[in-house]
Amino acid sequence: MRSITEIEYFDGVKILVRADFNVPIKNGAVTDDFRIRTALPTINFLCEKGAKVILMSHLEVKEGEKATLAPVAEVLKKLGREVKFISNIRDANEFIDHELDNGQCVLLENLRLNEGEKKNDRKFAEELASLADIFVNEAFSACHRKHASIVGVPKFLPSYAGFQLEKEVKNLSQAFNPAHPFIFILSGAKFETKLPLLEKFLRIADTVFVGGALANDIFKAKGYETGRSVVSDGSVDLSKYLSNPKLTVPVDVVIENNEIKAPDLLGKDEKIVDAGPATVESLRGKINAAKFILWNGPLGLYEDGFTAATAGVTRIVADHTSENKNVMSIVGGGDTVAAIESLGISDKFTFLSTGGGAMLDFLAQGNLPGIEALG
Ligand code: 3PG
Repeated sequence: MRSITEIEYFDGVKILVRADFNVPIKNGAVTDDFRIRTALPTINFLCEKGAKVILMSHLEVKEGEKATLAPVAEVLKKLGREVKFISNIRDANEFIDHELDNGQCVLLENLRLNEGEKKNDRKFAEELASLADIFVNEAFSACHRKHASIVGVPKFLPSYAGFQLEKEVKNLSQAFNPAHPFIFILSGAKFETKLPLLEKFLRIADTVFVGGALANDIFKAKGYETGRSVVSDGSVDLSKYLSNPKLTVPVDVVIENNEIKAPDLLGKDEKIVDAGPATVESLRGKINAAKFILWNGPLGLYEDGFTAATAGVTRIVADHTSENKNVMSIVGGGDTVAAIESLGISDKFTFLSTGGGAMLDFLAQGNLPGIEALG
């Protein structure tokens, strides 16, 4: 993986940058600009060196929202980077060759509006590559996707890694050889996709705390009633992990009416929505003893407003990291990072990953298709 600092010539060179601007957008406005801000140092570096910068990204939209990246161009402008938005990729060549000056920047429309993107169509990758002389991947959080703009384009252009992509690899790789005690907090849903990760980190870490809907699967495997709580599809067999002393789960849970219960006392009609205060307290001890903390996924149904346990753990990890120089904390996943940002304490963590699924895949496999494609 070559760094963009190794690019020899910049002046007037057309550089195609794959960013991940797959950000939440409500009523036509970006509601969380974390990923945009993390890509900015690379964009600014290339522009300041005199390159012609062509930004591209996908956007997966929720129903009712337009699948356009135009609001991202607005955010880039607010952050000080003027960009020309190109709504039809087929018009890009003409504009880049005749109107884009050195040091200027364009943003292409949502790549997923083209069928070839998700299919990793060779022709589409070639069409994208034909816009530029050099490819830069600054989309760590999309590197788990074998899509045309991620793994196809580098087949046709000399390829480099952006600053954030390099940081992601460097920081997340620390988890393969961590300081101890090491606590891994794994939350979210869909255990069927996370078993290799659990297995791997039950070997490496000293404590693996499983929260969110993943914990409901463990409760189910223990024979507890899980009522209407979110659980995986039944294909996961967790029985062999239940006696592992490293594995811990919430000791109390919050249900929809905000009542706090022991997890084995749930009624048939009840639904777990968050971890309870005793769980947060039990984590305090483990986190405060740790030298390495790795965390992905909120502890409750964050999108429905059940944020208390996530906020509690956020503060504990932030305080412990900022008070101890030899402690490393790495946190990822959209909602988890959003929780940290909303409390204004991002700078207290060692590293915030832009990756959700990509972070988990990287941790499980030690590599990602998009990184491999850079050679
Ligand atoms: C993400 O948000 O995790 C990445 O942008 C990948 O998006 P996707 O899951 O829609 O491929």
